[in-house]
Amino acid sequence: MVDQFETPLFTALIKHAENNPIQFHIPGHKKGNGMNPEFREFIGENALSIDLINIGPLDDLHLPKGIIKQSQELAAKAFGADHTFFSVQGTSGAIMAMIMSVCGPGDKILVPRNVHKSIMSAIVFSGAVPIFIHPEVDSYFGISHGITPDSIESALVLHPDTKAVLVINPTYYGISGDLRKIVSIAHSRNIPVLVDEAHGAHIHFHKELPLSAMEAGADMAATSVHKLGGSLTQSSILNLRGNLVSPKRVQAVLSMLTTTSTSYLLLASLDVARKSLATEGQALLEDTILKAEETRSKINEIPHLYCMGHEILESSAAVAMDSTKLLISVKELGITGFDVEKWLRNKFNIEVELSDLYNILCIVTPGDTQKDLHTLIKALTVLSQDYKVQADMNVDSSVLLPEIPPLALTSRDAFYAETEVIPFEQSAGRIIAEFVMVYPPGIPIFIPGEIITKDNLVYTRKNIEAGLPVQGAEDEQLRTLRVIKEHLAIK
Ligand SMILES: Cc1ncc(COP(=O)(O)O)c(C=O)c1O
Repeated sequence: MVDQFETPLFTALIKHAENNPIQFHIPGHKKGNGMNPEFREFIGENALSIDLINIGPLDDLHLPKGIIKQSQELAAKAFGADHTFFSVQGTSGAIMAMIMSVCGPGDKILVPRNVHKSIMSAIVFSGAVPIFIHPEVDSYFGISHGITPDSIESALVLHPDTKAVLVINPTYYGISGDLRKIVSIAHSRNIPVLVDEAHGAHIHFHKELPLSAMEAGADMAATSVHKLGGSLTQSSILNLRGNLVSPKRVQAVLSMLTTTSTSYLLLASLDVARKSLATEGQALLEDTILKAEETRSKINEIPHLYCMGHEILESSAAVAMDSTKLLISVKELGITGFDVEKWLRNKFNIEVELSDLYNILCIVTPGDTQKDLHTLIKALTVLSQDYKVQADMNVDSSVLLPEIPPLALTSRDAFYAETEVIPFEQSAGRIIAEFVMVYPPGIPIFIPGEIITKDNLVYTRKNIEAGLPVQGAEDEQLRTLRVIKEHLAIK
């Protein structure tokens, strides 16, 4: 029995590379010899020597029987799952496989409205019918938290034929609702709970962090190991437990959606990230939480800034918090989060995780040093001094929130309907046929099928004017929007 200190996939790749086989297979760069020398030099021979492909000794992600299977089994043990599937297409790929394994055309799925675009893509592709649940909104920060067990209960009474419940745990900002209770409500009706755990690769490994999906008894979880678990960008996992979802079906759907040229660099990075999380995650996270908490208190001593803490946990939509997330409200300074993002870049060479109209988000991980955190505190202190005069004038710090527009058509029907392009300013009241979102965080302001509201046009315009990255629509400038074509009666 291999244990968590072993790395069957990474170790086998190193051995294979050391054996130095003559390669008559792809990738055609052949250990880097056939590629641009400048890039080869930069990236290094070691990395290129294990940029390999699914030849016999190296197993195949599409039908794992050897080293990939062993590595996935170790991950399953570490994450408390019955089965773990590796994804080389990020959590977006894992989420699509998760939803499409369970829902087909016409199947109802409960989803919070503040979902990532990959969930809506899966809903469009599968033909599932979303039943939207209002997340709880925090009107100080202008962000959404989790959903309450009560709202799930009510939705299931209204829609007893629901096929799946989808929950975000934790949110981008590190907040979790009462997942265990939601699972128990759904399971009492034999309905599987699917979890978007993009921001929770680490939470399973420290008891002070929110409950992981597998700990809470959920059936599946798509988890970005690359975001907070230490693996390379684009590598994620899909965890599965219990018997409401068939692992064979999941493997088949995942395989349908996955490239046949799976990157072994990404796969190997999942193998080693799992080892670190399982064998030293607790200690590393202990230190990380401590550093983040110290930084949070220091930030909260700076005038006009407020860094979210455990005090905001006051409802069943917000029962736990990942304290390694530093969500800092800057609205009292009279500037936007995006202004602060640019200011930090220009003045202190600091890059944040995201900014929005009112906040910046900084993530703290085992990769941060005390010095980096001190620089952040120093930078924010200077920022507060620079904007002191403006802030002391008691700027309007009210928060504009996007509303949840009524849904007129399913997203799939709207996406494939006959459409036309009309001016943005004249689109209120029409049914939108495309997504509009600020990325990050990638949560849609409009999804196909919704009726465009004046308030959300104002909200979108405000984000554009602030310089935030509004994406999704065909017209990048958003002078126009694609809407469902209306046919007038023939006279
Ligand atoms: C809540 C949420 N879900 C899913 C994803 C998709 O994850 P990935 O970037 O690994 O595809 C993201 C990415 O930002 C996210 O924020």
